[in-house]
Amino acid sequence: MKKTILTGIRPTGRIHLGHYFGATKNWVELQNDYNSFFEIADVQALTDNFDNPTKVRENVREIAIDLLSIGINPEKSTIFIQSMIPEIAELTVYYSNLVTMSRLYRNPTIKTEIAQKKAIFGNNGESVTYGFVGYPVSQAADITAFKGELIPVGEDQLPLIEQCREIVRKFNSIYGETLKEPEAYLSKTTRIKGLDGNEKMGKSLGNAIYLRDNEEVITKKIMGAVTDPNKIKKDDPAEPSKCMVYYYHNLINSKEKDLICEECKKGLRGCVQCKKELIKNMLDFLSPIQEKAKYYEEHLDEVDNILIKGTKKAQEIAKETMKDVKKAIKIDYYN
Ligand code: TRP
Repeated sequence: MKKTILTGIRPTGRIHLGHYFGATKNWVELQNDYNSFFEIADVQALTDNFDNPTKVRENVREIAIDLLSIGINPEKSTIFIQSMIPEIAELTVYYSNLVTMSRLYRNPTIKTEIAQKKAIFGNNGESVTYGFVGYPVSQAADITAFKGELIPVGEDQLPLIEQCREIVRKFNSIYGETLKEPEAYLSKTTRIKGLDGNEKMGKSLGNAIYLRDNEEVITKKIMGAVTDPNKIKKDDPAEPSKCMVYYYHNLINSKEKDLICEECKKGLRGCVQCKKELIKNMLDFLSPIQEKAKYYEEHLDEVDNILIKGTKKAQEIAKETMKDVKKAIKIDYYN
């Protein structure tokens, strides 16, 4: 029997190279070896976008299109919409009794995120919402509702998986062995730097290349990418390790990447030429994904049907879990 993996993505924007190399590319490989569930976490996205439901709504389908375009195969994997599984919300309520406030506030992921979101939650986090602080509980419900065993996440999410494990252990010790304790699956992925050289590529940082960016946008972004600041003239020797253009040549494995590195170091390569080559290579790299995306953009019914079918399947499993949980908590009335 294949093990179950479950992971989620917040629908707050389309997928960029940071998500792709940092997470979703790996999901495409995992789906061959595992019973795979990919959740479009709209409820979780609302925890810090509660005042912008349109953004969340619009991006559910965009994320689905991106996932299908990179090769998530709906015949092998289940893609579903979180809010359409009310059992997740229901489980969250019961799990919330098993978590203390201080434990939630101590969660390193939550701490960091509250600090990063000053605009929403105030300078000292004084306006943080109950829903946001509680999202690890809801995420524990995401995982356990589908009996997730391995949870592919980035390192930043490890404290959430740990918290989920604690909830499961507490639940089982009080109510009897009911839930499956998941494990984090740390994959061999890399954190991708932004066009500006920032350690992280992120939507809010404005330094991202999206899988569906068109030629014009990609050209503009790459032409503005950070290069070695010590290189002034076209034939100055430079240090590729300080150059984002080289970084992306290397990332997408441009055929000439070793030559590029050598030429750059020797001052035999101007930045403009190098950027133009990267633009071409980037477009070639993205073209199979963009072709598939174009197909799905023109066949939105197909996308919707995949989501409907996936969500139905997810609902069935969540219902089973809910039944077990209610029985364990002795709230299984009249059935
Ligand atoms: N919190 C995850 C992120 O921001 C997304 C997510 C939602 C998730 N539900 C999940 C990850 C369940 C793993 C399991 O990236």
